[in-house]
Amino acid sequence: MTHQNPAASDPLAIDGGAPVIDRPLNRYKGAAAIGEQEKQAVMEVLESQSLFRYYGPNLLSKVAHFEQEFARFVGARHAAAASNGTAALRMGLAALGVGPGDEVIVPAVTFIASVGAIVASRARPVFAEVDETMQLDPADLPKRLTKRTKAIMPVHLNGVAVDMDPVLDFARSHGLKVIEDAAQSCGSRYKGKAVGTLGDVGCFSFQLEKNITSGEGGVLVTDDDELFRRAVIYSDQGGQFWTSHAGVRDTVGGQPVIGENLRMNEIAGAILGCQLAKLNEILNRIERNTTIVREGVETIPGLQVGPRNPDRDRHALGVLFYLPTAEQADAVAAALRAEGVPAGKVYGGQPVYAAPQILNQWTITRGCPFDCPSYFPEPIQYHMGMCPRSEDLLARGVGISVGPFYEEEDLDGIIAGVEKVARHLL
Ligand SMILES: Cc1ncc(COP(=O)(O)O)c(C=O)c1O
Repeated sequence: MTHQNPAASDPLAIDGGAPVIDRPLNRYKGAAAIGEQEKQAVMEVLESQSLFRYYGPNLLSKVAHFEQEFARFVGARHAAAASNGTAALRMGLAALGVGPGDEVIVPAVTFIASVGAIVASRARPVFAEVDETMQLDPADLPKRLTKRTKAIMPVHLNGVAVDMDPVLDFARSHGLKVIEDAAQSCGSRYKGKAVGTLGDVGCFSFQLEKNITSGEGGVLVTDDDELFRRAVIYSDQGGQFWTSHAGVRDTVGGQPVIGENLRMNEIAGAILGCQLAKLNEILNRIERNTTIVREGVETIPGLQVGPRNPDRDRHALGVLFYLPTAEQADAVAAALRAEGVPAGKVYGGQPVYAAPQILNQWTITRGCPFDCPSYFPEPIQYHMGMCPRSEDLLARGVGISVGPFYEEEDLDGIIAGVEKVARHLL
């Protein structure tokens, strides 16, 4: 059970007191909404014995339907399904022609997959600062621009949209491409427009943590016919190849290339069709729950919660606040967790480039992008301190995760837990 309104004298749970919330909260989003529809859709696919998206004894075309519905949902001309979000990023980078000799600007705060996809494309990631919303700071772009910059990868983290207008202005004025990593923000909007539809291509993930899920899955969206064609052929073994059952498959035409298999299967497509029908409800719940937590904690003295910006944070999957020092942030985060509040430092308080494999440029093979003088005559050095403002914000920031399926008493418990910790520590 959850204890509400702890007395002022109650000791902190971290000091041996009773926690405000004494059970794990249901942090899942789409996964928590899986029900009869998904079961039935999966059974249909199994019964059809047609688990592959392009042919089978009784093909139901679940992936193709999902692509159409997803494109309609976000308001894009095209959607190309992928085996996961990282695959969608790879397809987007391939479609944009990003490769050896190119640099891609990526925020210092993101999941390592954004960086991995760039390196797998044999291009170099260049890290840029985030602002106090923990999103790419457009004001830092000029500092990161070089003659090799080919693209910018804004990452819409945790349901919040990057401030895209200045990013797009900067990209246009320097002839750069924009690939949006919207993996964590399916359905979020920037000034009313779906994230992922603002740049040249947008990429989404349907991994288990995401707003809608098939366990693994991804999709790329674009309004550009040629980028779509390139993304599709790259993901389908390069396009135009002989299959043992269906002759030559050529879904989008044009010249084939040597590609990979980054396709989605029909089971994932079937599940995602059902999940997409639930996305609006999930987004409404996210908005409601985050608003309750935000309004509950923003008046607590000692916490610096950033200003609300409905053009960007309507579907934020949590509330972020800052403490004056890193030590206070560590202490508050630890005390909140002990109270059962789902809180912590964003990505452990470290920029993505703090990962030793990035700092040390450990790749699985030699060659581009770090070891290929013909494309990149100069080495690139990564080191802590590359994005000092982001490092400071990460050190002092504490995020509370909010899920669409938290119960009323969970939301009350979170607010009571933050009040209790603030009363003791701030
Ligand atoms: C920001 C970001 N980009 C990319 C990905 C990669 O997605 P996936 O795990 O589906 O490959 C994820 C999530 O997992 C993510 O959070």
